[in-house]
Amino acid sequence: MKLCVTGGAGYIGSIVAQALIEGGHEVTVLDNVSTGHAAAVPDGCRFIRSDIRDADALAKAFGAGVEAVLHFAAFSVVSDSVNRPLVYFDNNIGGTIHLLESMERFGVKRIVFSSSAAVYGEPEKLPIVETDFCKPSNPYGFSKLVVEQMLRASRDAWGLEFVSLRYFNAGGSVADHGEHHEPETHLIPIVLDVAAGYREKFTIFGDDYDTPDGTCLRDYIHVYDLAVAHILALSAMDHGFSGVLNLGSDRAFTVLDVVKAVERVTGKKVRYEIGARRPGDPPALLASSKEAERVLGWKKTRSSLEEIIRSAYEWRLRHPKGYPS
Ligand code: UFG
Repeated sequence: MKLCVTGGAGYIGSIVAQALIEGGHEVTVLDNVSTGHAAAVPDGCRFIRSDIRDADALAKAFGAGVEAVLHFAAFSVVSDSVNRPLVYFDNNIGGTIHLLESMERFGVKRIVFSSSAAVYGEPEKLPIVETDFCKPSNPYGFSKLVVEQMLRASRDAWGLEFVSLRYFNAGGSVADHGEHHEPETHLIPIVLDVAAGYREKFTIFGDDYDTPDGTCLRDYIHVYDLAVAHILALSAMDHGFSGVLNLGSDRAFTVLDVVKAVERVTGKKVRYEIGARRPGDPPALLASSKEAERVLGWKKTRSSLEEIIRSAYEWRLRHPKGYPS
């Protein structure tokens, strides 16, 4: 298929673009490289270095006869969204409005959307299923929920078909692609940097949550398994599916569990201190991905915490400074 991947220079987008190229698809990456890396765009992709709010760039991408869009371009740091909500709404919601307008204009009627567990906020029960109430605890999660509403409304208004994939906590690396954010705010790469000696210690944001050891509980999913789900989502639309799906490992770990797993995998001691809670952090998130397994035929093969950490560590050691550009 001819596909457009927005945000294909980012962590998850570039790994999905790579998987699509390997699957024989023709891929145009549209990315303004504001948080991604030009060097992460896989070989074999056509690369348009532009913003999704740029109508000319969208026309260039869609003019080539694109059949479906995989939409990753967004700001995605929960704590940052608490401090800069309007920037998040502008990019994530405003940007998607421009994207959908161009899709409608060019007759591109399929989209796989990069959504998030952040849409649920603080769930009343675990594991979380797709029909649970959504009440985001931060502007980032809210921006993703609004886009999901836009997708539903576009389906009703002009026949858009969509699969919205609500990722839990993505981690790990695939071959030459790994996680590199500036600044890094995510738990696994930060803890690995302490293990590798690139950082002296890190801060655990709160140990007084109502969880087994007081630190936040999360469901970590390997980015390779996420990529597989995106490819299956494209096929699911062929079979008439439109809707939202959770993607997680269906197993939850506290921050201290992650520290212990990093120590086991790397054989290195990790120094940490306990700090205050981070604004916007829900105490516990755990997926039920049964619906994704049923609808997509999705099977996770790499999402043990050890494999996520092992692959992320390997990439970090090979790329101590991350991507070169
Ligand atoms: N944490 C620390 N110290 C750090 C970094 C993180 O204690 O230095 C804790 C956080 O407080 C949180 C957990 O580790 O409890 C995971 O934090 P991350 O920053 O790695 O990830 P988040 O859970 O905040 O968010 C991630 C994605 C979001 C997505 C969410 C869905 O970044 O885009 O998972 O579960 F919405």
